[in-house]
Amino acid sequence: MAPKVSKAIVLRHIPGRKGEVYYPIEKIFLPIPPLSANSVLVKISAVALNHRDFYVRQDLYPNVRFGVPLCCDGSGTVIAVGSAVSQKWLNRRVIINPGQGWDNHPGAPESECGYRTLGASPAGTGTLQEYMTVDEKDVFAMPEHLNDAEAAALPTAGLTAWRALMINSRNAIPGRNILITGVGGGVALMAMQFALAAGCNVFVTSGSSEKLRRAEEMGAHGGALYTDSNWDEKLLKLLPRERGRFDAIVDSAGGDIVDRGVRLLKNGGVIVTLGMTLGPSVKYPMKAVIRQIALVGTGMGSRKDLGDMLEFVHANRITPVVSRAISGIDDVEQIDAFIGEMGKGSQFGKLVVEIEKKEGLSKL
Ligand SMILES: NC(=O)c1ccc[n+]([C@@H]2O[C@H](COP(=O)([O-])OP(=O)(O)OC[C@H]3O[C@@H](n4cnc5c(N)ncnc54)[C@H](OP(=O)(O)O)[C@@H]3O)[C@@H](O)[C@H]2O)c1
Repeated sequence: MAPKVSKAIVLRHIPGRKGEVYYPIEKIFLPIPPLSANSVLVKISAVALNHRDFYVRQDLYPNVRFGVPLCCDGSGTVIAVGSAVSQKWLNRRVIINPGQGWDNHPGAPESECGYRTLGASPAGTGTLQEYMTVDEKDVFAMPEHLNDAEAAALPTAGLTAWRALMINSRNAIPGRNILITGVGGGVALMAMQFALAAGCNVFVTSGSSEKLRRAEEMGAHGGALYTDSNWDEKLLKLLPRERGRFDAIVDSAGGDIVDRGVRLLKNGGVIVTLGMTLGPSVKYPMKAVIRQIALVGTGMGSRKDLGDMLEFVHANRITPVVSRAISGIDDVEQIDAFIGEMGKGSQFGKLVVEIEKKEGLSKL
């Protein structure tokens, strides 16, 4: 029988200022509305966390919504289809588009309201629930080499890394020197995997020697600790003699990245900035103008980008790194602590919640 309600994890409102408040989470039961003609019902199997989910709890993300399921990344199986949807989708393992309002424009979202990421947002829905109604256009077949947890780890990190590296860096070209900062992060690690698959020379930074070692094991050419004040000088020494500067930097930290970039990049090099973990703005000094360093902001990506990224992942048999998984949606305290782990930054890759409670060890 078709399910009538979906258990969901949502934010509860408490008073507090931006950045000081930490909204609690709670489990609620949401009614599942009848399927519209163009929708499918997905039984969610796994949900990946993003830094964004930690920011929304602190009200550091625009337009936070209470009572709307958290999280934008999910994988699952289609268990019912609307009257206008092909039956071929029934029982298919799928990935859900993490945002709305961007179809295929190469530059930016077409929608007047801009791009809406799912999860405690005006999109009105999110993936941290048992069942989710999704427009047919927003489900994508899961690459078959991935398990559910790996597939859930892909949408936001993969899409953001795809647009940052493959489109906005203009340098996803064999032999180019690419620097990816903070490689332990979900997006950074995917960007590294894409850059390696594209044949680039990839260098990384991290706050942890262990994470640098793991990145090198996966194929990075070298790395430096961003906690060393002269990390940029150390990286320059690692570059090949015939190509002694970087072509592009993919950065999510901000801070003094443009000053560092002026030293690290060739004239006309590109810094793609996808986030500012260290603070809300970066300085763009005159010396960056003279060296014609481009500072390019990047957002997640369109439906077309998501399809292109999944094809690339499939063709290159890329597997996202799952750092740790927990299982079950009923233990709210466990999920609460798991979201809190994003703030500690100890993960290497993605944190994943497998929705069904598993006895004993997770399959990961
Ligand atoms: N523009 C978009 O559409 C978009 C999409 C997704 C994410 N983002 C943003 O991108 C950022 C990363 O997101 P995420 O989900 O990948 O987060 P995450 O998995 O929590 O990773 C954050 C990473 O930041 C790195 N970091 C911390 N301090 C650093 C520093 N001083 N220099 C360089 N790196 C530093 C850490 O790297 P180590 O662990 O290696 O030390 C950490 O792993 C967030 O600010 C997020 O809001 C933007």
